[in-house]
Amino acid sequence: MLETEPTLSTSTFTTTENQEPTTPERLAEILAAPGFGEFMTDHVAKVEWSGESPDGGEWRDARIEPYGPLSLDPATSVLHYGQEVFEGLKAYRHQDGSVWLFRPEANAQRFQKSARRLALPELPVDLFVDAVRNLVEKDSRWIPEGEGTSLYLRPFMIATEKFLGVRPTHEALFEVIASPAANYFGTPEPVDIWWARDYARAGEGGTGAAKCGGNYAASLLPQTEAEEKGCKQVIFTDPHRDNAVEELGGMNVFFVFSDGTLVTPELTGTILEGITRTSIIQLAEEQGYRVVERKITVDEWRDGVESGEIAEVFACGTAAVVAPMGRLLWEDGEIPAAKNTNGEVTELLRTQLTGIQTGRVEDRFGWLTRVV
Ligand code: PLP
Ligand code: COI
Repeated sequence: MLETEPTLSTSTFTTTENQEPTTPERLAEILAAPGFGEFMTDHVAKVEWSGESPDGGEWRDARIEPYGPLSLDPATSVLHYGQEVFEGLKAYRHQDGSVWLFRPEANAQRFQKSARRLALPELPVDLFVDAVRNLVEKDSRWIPEGEGTSLYLRPFMIATEKFLGVRPTHEALFEVIASPAANYFGTPEPVDIWWARDYARAGEGGTGAAKCGGNYAASLLPQTEAEEKGCKQVIFTDPHRDNAVEELGGMNVFFVFSDGTLVTPELTGTILEGITRTSIIQLAEEQGYRVVERKITVDEWRDGVESGEIAEVFACGTAAVVAPMGRLLWEDGEIPAAKNTNGEVTELLRTQLTGIQTGRVEDRFGWLTRVV
C-alpha cells in the first residue's frame, strides 16, 4: 500500500452530537439573513494526522463533533510560520429538498496541491469529500433556501505541532466548518475595483497558486485601502509583466470582447486556479464562445473599454459566484466601466452556472454530487 493511500473511509467517521444545538427560532432568524461567514453551524468535521514527513504518516480519528474553539499551545507552529491551507465550496438545497455539492473532488484535489506547496500532508480526496458530506448531512437544516443562498463550507488544515524550529510539522489537524451564505457583495450591481499598484499578493515561485492563509494576509492592507476608496475588492497586477492583470483578492477575472471572445489571465503560477474559472471556461465554450487564457494588461483593458472592444468585465469565485465589475480605480487614474458591464454574456454564464448548482438547469457536465 502506498503511504499516502487513505487509511480511513466514510464509515469511520464517528459522531458526537451537539447537546445545545441552535434553537429552531434562532436558526430561522439566521437563515432569513445569513450574510457571509458570520454564523457557523452546530458541528464540525475533524481528521488528525501525524507523521515524520508530509509524504507519509497516518490520518486518524475522523469525527463529527460539536462546533467549538480550538485549544492550541502558544508554540504551535501554525501560529508562527503560517503553515496552513484552506478551501471554499458550497452545498445547495434543490426544490425537491435534496442537497448537492458542486465539484467537491476539484476542491479536494486543489487542497492536495496547496498542501504540497506548504509542506503539509496531502489529505486523500475521498476523505476530504467524506468529511464535507458527513458535516453537510449532519447540519443540513442550516442550508438556507432563498435565491442566491447556500451553505458555504470551509475545509482547512493547520500545523499543530508544538515546536518553534522552522521545518514541516509532524502533526496536523484537518477541519471543516460550515456557514450559511447569501450574496458575498450584498449587491448584484457592478462593483468598483481598486488597483493596488504598490502591492503584490504573490510572486514568481511563491505561493500564489496555493490557497493558503498567508496570501490573504498579504491582501488585507490593499483591501483596506480599496474599501477606503469606496471599492469592494482589490485587483493585483504583475509590474514585471507590463502590469498584466492577475486576479482580485478572492476571485478570478474575465473580459468579454465584443467579437464573442472571452479572455482570462493565464495560469502563471501566481494566481489561484479557480474552480468557478474552470467551470466558466467549459460553460462559455459549450455556449459557442471562444475562450483564450492569455496575458491581458491594464493598458489593453483601458484601450479595449475606450474603443468598445471590451464589452463586459466580470469576476468569479465560489463566494462571489459571477459578479459584474464596474470601474477600475487607482490613486491618479480610472478606467470607466465597460459599456455593457452588466451585460448579457455575464448574465448568461451566471444563470447557467447557478442554474446547474441549484438544480434548475440540467447538470450536463456531471458537476453535482448528492449528499441528502
Ligand atoms: N482567486 C482567489 C485569490 C480566491 O480566493 C478565489 C476563491 O476561492 C478564487 C480565485 C476563485 O476560486 P474558486 O472559483 O475555486 O472559488
Ligand atoms: C471563496 O470564494 O471560497 C474564497 O475563499 C474567497 C474568499 C474571498 C471568501
